[in-house]
Amino acid sequence: MSTFADALNEQIGYEFAASQQYIAIAVYYDDETLPQLAAHFYRQAVEERNHAMMMVQYLLDSDADVAIPGVEAPQTSFSGVVAPVALAHAQEKRVTDQIVELVKLARNEGDLVGEQFLHWFLQEQRVEVASMTELLAVVERGKENLLHVEEYLGRAAGGEHPLGAGAPPAAGGAL
Ligand SMILES: [Fe+2]
Ligand SMILES: [Fe+2]
Repeated sequence: MSTFADALNEQIGYEFAASQQYIAIAVYYDDETLPQLAAHFYRQAVEERNHAMMMVQYLLDSDADVAIPGVEAPQTSFSGVVAPVALAHAQEKRVTDQIVELVKLARNEGDLVGEQFLHWFLQEQRVEVASMTELLAVVERGKENLLHVEEYLGRAAGGEHPLGAGAPPAAGGAL
């Protein structure tokens, strides 16, 4: 198996880990009776799961080995309401770096098909880092009265995913 295929298999684990982390964050906010923040992270968890399944589909399509990896346990307790969003923001930045490394690997191997597959993920990371940066600012500003944050998310919720139409197919179908 190519180094790129190996690294993409590894990334599947990171995407599932991100999904588990977002579920843990959603549950934390649900428990704090902050339903919009909870809903936001439940949705993000499904998106990360879909990212993993897009990578699974890509490996299936390219006839590479695919092994579903285990994931590290997420962080489940937080020092306050800002901490989970700060963690999510750091996580999105880390995933951006991981995707960039994958692109470099594909390019070094002359795997232009693999590189092209990853272009959607580069755009997706740009969107996710930007929206998590915004949410972090909103939560920091509103931490004394989280109803403002809930209102903000209530207004921002819904609507199509901006990159939804061009998304790569997910194994078993996207949720
Ligand atoms: Fe992701
Ligand atoms: Fe993400």
